[in-house]
Amino acid sequence: MSKSVKILFEEEIKNNQVVLSFIKDRKEEFVPTLLNDESVIIIKEPKENKLTLENIRMLAGSIAKSLANSEIEKAEINNETLIKTFNSNEKEDVIIAFVEGWNLGTYKFVTYKSEIKNNKVDLNFTNNQEYSQAIQIGKVRASAMAFSRDLTNDTANELNPETFPEVLKEEFANTEVEVNVLGKKEIESKEMNGLLAVSRGSKYEPRFVELKYVGDESKPLVALVGKGVTFDTGGISLKSGRDLSDMRMDMGGAAAVSGAIKLLAESKANVNVIGLLQIVENMPDSNSMLPGDVIRYKNGKTVQVGNTDAEGRLILADGLIRADELNADFIVNIATLTGAAAVALGSETGAVMGNLEYASEMRTIGAKNGDNVWPLPLIDAYESYLDSDYADFSNISNKGEAGAITAGLFLRRFVTNPEKWLHVDMAGVMESDNKGYYTKSARGFGARLLADYTVEKSE
Ligand code: BES
Ligand code: MG
Ligand code: ZN
Repeated sequence: MSKSVKILFEEEIKNNQVVLSFIKDRKEEFVPTLLNDESVIIIKEPKENKLTLENIRMLAGSIAKSLANSEIEKAEINNETLIKTFNSNEKEDVIIAFVEGWNLGTYKFVTYKSEIKNNKVDLNFTNNQEYSQAIQIGKVRASAMAFSRDLTNDTANELNPETFPEVLKEEFANTEVEVNVLGKKEIESKEMNGLLAVSRGSKYEPRFVELKYVGDESKPLVALVGKGVTFDTGGISLKSGRDLSDMRMDMGGAAAVSGAIKLLAESKANVNVIGLLQIVENMPDSNSMLPGDVIRYKNGKTVQVGNTDAEGRLILADGLIRADELNADFIVNIATLTGAAAVALGSETGAVMGNLEYASEMRTIGAKNGDNVWPLPLIDAYESYLDSDYADFSNISNKGEAGAITAGLFLRRFVTNPEKWLHVDMAGVMESDNKGYYTKSARGFGARLLADYTVEKSE
């Protein structure tokens, strides 16, 4: 017989003074203990300021994680008590958050582990009939995020510009997502010259992937543009002085878009969405683009490559031009774009720029779903920082300030109507520490954010 555990709330054991006094002085949010010889987990009364959905996800993730290495294979919790404890009117949201956190808490990146332990713990609710839909949504959200995490964690020798599209084809085979992969020839004929320039030093050819999901044709077209640099060495402007292994995650934007499309398709959302992924590797080589080179874009604009390490914006430019060509009604691009965004906002909040009203909507969405973003201003006075002596503009600023903003200003020049557009810089939130439903490594940031934003713009 498989071992199981009951998850109880303080309130459910209020008659047991012995256990209550035992857990009273514990700081942890939950305490594994024995009650009448049965092993149980007791959740302490959350403080007023901890009644958020994020706290539910964190709590569920921590409990699942703590059980993952035990012999326990099943856990049971009373959904009504859970909802009551968190004092929420949004009953479904509480269940979704708990399931989402639970499933992600035991996430592990196991591709390269020779021994894989099954560390999943089944979760049962006391009355799960009423919430079967919410439970399903929680699972879908978790698996979309896990997909983003898997892609982001994968190593650059496995996940490169030529294999990444294959992984997507496999993932979306037999689903309603159409995967269209453009190879080097098509990229040339479509004059995606940023992709061609950045990929020149790599042994891999560039790819441009379109992921299309049409749940409702009549809805406005939302284009999600993702930076997919499978490894960023900096190119000829080589990075140095630190362990660069996290630069395999420089495709986190493309992973976010892929996860969002998976989430939307699996939840059969009534949206009309297209993911546009620019996939390259940024390498130094005798064929590499050089500092000082000029890229001429399809829209006629010329860009001086001031620094080959500012490659993200060079390829996103092709994606934004494509989004315009497709007449997208809303455009969001997402990228691990600047160290400056991480310096400005730290590792818990991404930066969002563009249409202020939309940015504020996105901030609200992220505060609820766990993918936090905060607006940064696109200050017109800094436009001149991108001036170039011999091209229309440069890909880097000539001032040592406002790095995240100047990257945003650069991108804004590639959308004909910036009122439709948002730019998310997720450099700071690409990775996470091991806590709650996060494990050390890729966060899976952006899948929920982009999916929920797409749904909001389709209402
Ligand atoms: N991929 C990096 C940004 C990054 C750094 C993401 C650390 C995650 C963690 C990006 O391509 C880059 O190199 N940006 C430069 C831009 C600079 C040369 C203008 C940066 O931020 O230093
Ligand atoms: Mg770079
Ligand atoms: Zn980069």
